[in-house]
Amino acid sequence: MDLGLKGKVAIVTGGSEGIGRATAQSLGREGAAVVVCARRADVLERAAQDIAEATGANIVAVQADVRNTLDVERVVQTAVDRFGHLDILVNNACTSAAAPFESVTLEAWQADLDLKLFGAIRAMRAAVPHLRQAGGGSIVNVLNLGAKQPGPRSVPTSVSRAAGMALMKALSKELAADNIRVNGVNIGLIKSGQHERRWHSEGARGTLEDFYVENARRSGIPLGRVGEAQEVGDLIAFLCSSRGTYISGVSINMDGGLSAVV
Ligand SMILES: NC(=O)c1ccc[n+]([C@@H]2O[C@H](COP(=O)([O-])OP(=O)(O)OC[C@H]3O[C@@H](n4cnc5c(N)ncnc54)[C@H](OP(=O)(O)O)[C@@H]3O)[C@@H](O)[C@H]2O)c1
Repeated sequence: MDLGLKGKVAIVTGGSEGIGRATAQSLGREGAAVVVCARRADVLERAAQDIAEATGANIVAVQADVRNTLDVERVVQTAVDRFGHLDILVNNACTSAAAPFESVTLEAWQADLDLKLFGAIRAMRAAVPHLRQAGGGSIVNVLNLGAKQPGPRSVPTSVSRAAGMALMKALSKELAADNIRVNGVNIGLIKSGQHERRWHSEGARGTLEDFYVENARRSGIPLGRVGEAQEVGDLIAFLCSSRGTYISGVSINMDGGLSAVV
């Protein structure tokens, strides 16, 4: 199936590792030019080079922190300056934060909202005028299952993510007249840099694959495994593509069947 992404221009925040990197790879493989951003310049540059080599696509790396408005505006401006227009925004950059309610300080609540909710708001504010000017486009917010199904000890992330889902829904209605589609992806457990770091910090016992197998078992994932980042990247590429043009205002669970809610 041709996804019709050739000639499209995309931004993927947090595109140096895990789900963001896999998304940049999927979009690049389908012929889109991609601007990726992240904070660690060395990891980002290496990822951009690897993706460009693997896909033959134009991949541009811009060091940026999504908590910084000027950084985010620079990422969007780079995409437009380098490629002339902007069609796709994937809000993915984040780190997880989940703890018992009474242990989370007010500062930690604000920091999480600033990263997860305001990070996406900053990028949307900068990108929407360009998407409109291009005649339409697609935005995908990477969220988590807690947005729909908040559990105990899941704050502040589950709350920040629920707000991200409301943002996605509200903008899908508001921007539809400009042919801008807005969707979300609710992640369960996906292989990525953050889990690899956790495996290291817990002593790197056994192989990384053993760690994932044990996590899948403990979480009770019905499909019996932790998902691959590329499976998420491919879903996001489809949502952004000309094959997904009637899909807007939905948030899709990417969780191997784990969630009890649709
Ligand atoms: N993997 C899962 O099981 C899972 C579960 C639930 C939700 N998610 C969500 O999926 C998304 C991707 O997670 P992942 O697992 O792929 O994580 P990951 O492997 O740790 O990758 C995170 C990416 O975001 C970048 N990043 C982090 N903070 C940033 C900031 N302030 N500004 C710019 N870039 C930033 C990181 O690079 P730098 O550190 O260099 O900035 C990296 O490129 C996140 O939104 C996460 O919350 C993932």
